[in-house]
Amino acid sequence: MAQTLTQIRNWNATLKAARPNMVALFVGGTGGIGRSTAVKLAGAVATPTIFIVGRNEKEGAEVLEELKSTNNNGTYSFLSADASHLREVDAVCQKLKPELSSLDLLFMTIGGLSFSKIEGDNNIDVNHILRYYSRMRFIQNLIPALEASKSPRVVSILGGGKEIKIEEDNFDLKKSWSFTGGAGYASTMVSVAHEKLASENPSISFIHGFPGVVSTPLFKKFLGPIFGSIVGFLSTPVSMSSSESGEWHTYLSTAEQFKSKDASGNGSYILNYDGKDLTNEAIMTELREKDFPTIVWKHTLDTFEKLA
Ligand SMILES: NC(=O)c1ccc[n+]([C@@H]2O[C@H](COP(=O)([O-])OP(=O)(O)OC[C@H]3O[C@@H](n4cnc5c(N)ncnc54)[C@H](OP(=O)(O)O)[C@@H]3O)[C@@H](O)[C@H]2O)c1
Repeated sequence: MAQTLTQIRNWNATLKAARPNMVALFVGGTGGIGRSTAVKLAGAVATPTIFIVGRNEKEGAEVLEELKSTNNNGTYSFLSADASHLREVDAVCQKLKPELSSLDLLFMTIGGLSFSKIEGDNNIDVNHILRYYSRMRFIQNLIPALEASKSPRVVSILGGGKEIKIEEDNFDLKKSWSFTGGAGYASTMVSVAHEKLASENPSISFIHGFPGVVSTPLFKKFLGPIFGSIVGFLSTPVSMSSSESGEWHTYLSTAEQFKSKDASGNGSYILNYDGKDLTNEAIMTELREKDFPTIVWKHTLDTFEKLA
């Protein structure tokens, strides 16, 4: 059910006592929704441990300062990685291993916008790697740390509720790519893979979120400073600030109703930023009937071999 801003602020205010020592990893935490959520979570929790992954070292250093000034009782680290390369994802997870005996929250926002296909490793579109394969690789690598937490959660912010009909011979978008198709394939694959992962890892709760329209550097980065600023300006009446988005996503990352299968929940959720269920039952039922959670996951494991 959709929550109000007052309700989620009240919930977030309970976290100091309820979740005093949360450990969280933000993949894409140097900017946008990832960064603002890391900062809000740091402020909401008594003694947080927060790891930030991103490429931009300058912004990585800035976010660490912002986290410290928000809550000086936390422990904060930045790890630089270009997550479009699975070997860098693996290296960063390997570095984190000794520090992550247990992980409560894996929060992922990597990926952006592009009007054309940009070929990356194994000739797969870079955005598709970031939106889908890299996020899945972080999950796969970090499952032991997540399973060691009392209430672990994976939150992937992308296009929850924007699932489409997908074709098995185009999962990697090599046969056909388009701006909307790229976003639709990645969103659909995240949703079905989460269902598979939730059934195989019943102690972990998985959320695929849609953030609404959020005022972040996204438009400027991908449309350039002039056109990006125009689009940003035009979207102002319907967009929310990064700071407010951080509050909503702190709520989604901690709210008790999105339970794992072990805790008698669904285990996998497709949600709007305010907690409203965005599951498109018709599409999801069709995808399940075609056994896509299993087929997509098999494709994912096969593609990991090609990308690693
Ligand atoms: N903002 C919106 O209105 C909106 C709406 C719907 C969906 N979304 C989706 O939500 C997600 C987050 O959006 P956002 O607005 O927060 O985006 P953003 O402001 O562009 O932030 C993206 C983050 O990902 C990191 N990143 C990008 N490429 C990376 C790479 N190759 N390796 C490692 N880190 C990388 C960036 O850091 P570095 O530059 O340091 O690498 C940054 O921290 C995106 O997938 C977006 O498509 C956003």
